[in-house]
Amino acid sequence: MYHYFLIFHSYYRWAVLFALVSQLIWLYINQRNNTIFQIKHYQLVIVFTFIYNIQFVLGWLLYLNSPLVTGFWSDIASGVKNRQLRFFGLEHMSMMTLAVLLINVFTLTVKSKINKNGFRYLWKRYIWITLIILSSIPWSFSPLTSRPNLR
Ligand code: HEM
Repeated sequence: MYHYFLIFHSYYRWAVLFALVSQLIWLYINQRNNTIFQIKHYQLVIVFTFIYNIQFVLGWLLYLNSPLVTGFWSDIASGVKNRQLRFFGLEHMSMMTLAVLLINVFTLTVKSKINKNGFRYLWKRYIWITLIILSSIPWSFSPLTSRPNLR
């Protein structure tokens, strides 16, 4: 099962990125135009959040099955000194979990901004969330830990 999770998680990153970039552009344009945040906009935010949550669940399934993560937890003292083990055992997991958690919190809190300035509220927060996600992906060119961009 581990290999299926890994392949799926690896390719699904492109769906996450596409959604994230589309959402950012959408938020930016609407906050700049002072568009009122309506219920139909809120529903689209929920669709985006659903896309990110799928990667979150896949990530945790992978985490619980990964030999790298098992290796990290079986000997934490030497695991933290190994860049790859530390990245997947600790850094990637915590940063991505934080990012998706924040997305869910803001999806809940932006409900109170319906018919108000919900676009500006989300835009200011999504810039930071996007930065967290982009910097925590093991890109082929990443100095932290690199993995193939296409498996
Ligand atoms: C937006 C969220 C996320 C994105 C975009 C993302 C992206 C990626 C990518 C691109 C890889 C490399 C796959 C490959 O080797 O081809 C990876 C590996 C991994 N991810 Fe995520 N991830 C996300 C969230 C998570 C979360 C929440 C967890 C949970 C702990 C997680 C756990 C892992 C693990 C354990 C691996 C490496 C497994 C291994 O090689 O054994 N990811 N992730």
